[in-house]
Amino acid sequence: MTSVAPHDPSLAIDGGRPVRPTMLPYARQQVDDADVEAVATALRSDWLTTGPRVPALEAGLCGATGARHAVAFSSGTAALHGAAVAAGLGPGDEAITTPMTFVATANAVLYAGAEVRFADVDPSTLLIRPDLVDAAMTPRTRAILAVDYAGQPADYRALREVAARSGGPVAIIADASHSLGATRDGAAVGTLADLTVLSLHPAKIMTTGEGGAVLTDDDALAARLRRFRNHGIASELAARTDWTYAMVELGYNYRLTDIAAALGSSQLARLDAFLARRRELAARYLERLAGHPYAQGPELDPGTESAWHFCFVQLRLDRLAADRGDVYRALRAENIGVNVHYIPVHRHPFYQERYPDLAFPAAEAAYDRLLTLPLHAGMTTDDVDDVVAALDKVTTAYRAD
Ligand SMILES: Cc1ncc(COP(=O)(O)O)c(C=O)c1O
Repeated sequence: MTSVAPHDPSLAIDGGRPVRPTMLPYARQQVDDADVEAVATALRSDWLTTGPRVPALEAGLCGATGARHAVAFSSGTAALHGAAVAAGLGPGDEAITTPMTFVATANAVLYAGAEVRFADVDPSTLLIRPDLVDAAMTPRTRAILAVDYAGQPADYRALREVAARSGGPVAIIADASHSLGATRDGAAVGTLADLTVLSLHPAKIMTTGEGGAVLTDDDALAARLRRFRNHGIASELAARTDWTYAMVELGYNYRLTDIAAALGSSQLARLDAFLARRRELAARYLERLAGHPYAQGPELDPGTESAWHFCFVQLRLDRLAADRGDVYRALRAENIGVNVHYIPVHRHPFYQERYPDLAFPAAEAAYDRLLTLPLHAGMTTDDVDDVVAALDKVTTAYRAD
């Protein structure tokens, strides 16, 4: 449904001059000469896959997060699948996750043969609410799969308490696709959950092209994950002494290549710099958005330090004569690459058919008002000022009063 937004000739969408001459993307990878050199070196080496660069990246991820094990995967989605299976999810089981996420989070539960249940989010942080997870627990619940929305870690301490109260074995899985480098109560992402899933897609904090990883402190889970990403074969190539190998469970080819891992290790060397820049840009957003009459900025739980994968606002639609779609289109015309994260999972046709009549009021109300603002390590604070200037321009032109 589109509303009829007021016409204003100063707006680029109505023929006016855009705030920026070229599009500012909401996300963009940062690839430098060292990255290109690292990939070229991998390409000239003996190993394009199953070589030494994958364990090197895994060791680097352990060093960066404090996790005991890192198991690299070919995507964050594959890593989620691995985590769901390693957590023991299978037919007859349920996992509880948030509707405010990318579909891959919930899909991973279905890949494992289990069923998805959802618990609604906090309306300000858009993180899953532990009390609603508690209410959604059943005797079949075997995992809680939280998402560190926009880079802020979920409340894993409270989720652990919910799991402990259930009396059964309930794994805590973090979808940390957004939150590499974030902390909660001083503890780093990678150490907060039983299994922590990273995405290394180009939009994320650092990249391997496509790629992902699962972090865990548990030796048995790590071994299971290594098997699972390699057809269910018990020994990795480097550990074999002859032609023999034993496939012991059904697995997949979810291996990351050495080419991708080389890029990842090179990127990892700049992780702190990426995070520092994101935090600087986020601070500017928070400062500029404080008290904004038409848009409410993101909120952080006390004690969390976000990795700031993106910055989101929720429009105050009661003060606007336009809907989110109108504001989105007008901002794009101003060359501000806004986006929307996320269409709540249960609203996708596949999920509506599988689980009819679900309602999650906080996620749905947020979705109608949400916009993702550009935030990536290649931006400057002047870029943030352009975004806020465009937001001011569009919302003022569309104000209701
Ligand atoms: C929250 C979340 N989960 C999972 C994924 C899937 O990661 P990937 O694209 O690496 O498969 C993404 C990436 O878009 C994501 O944002």
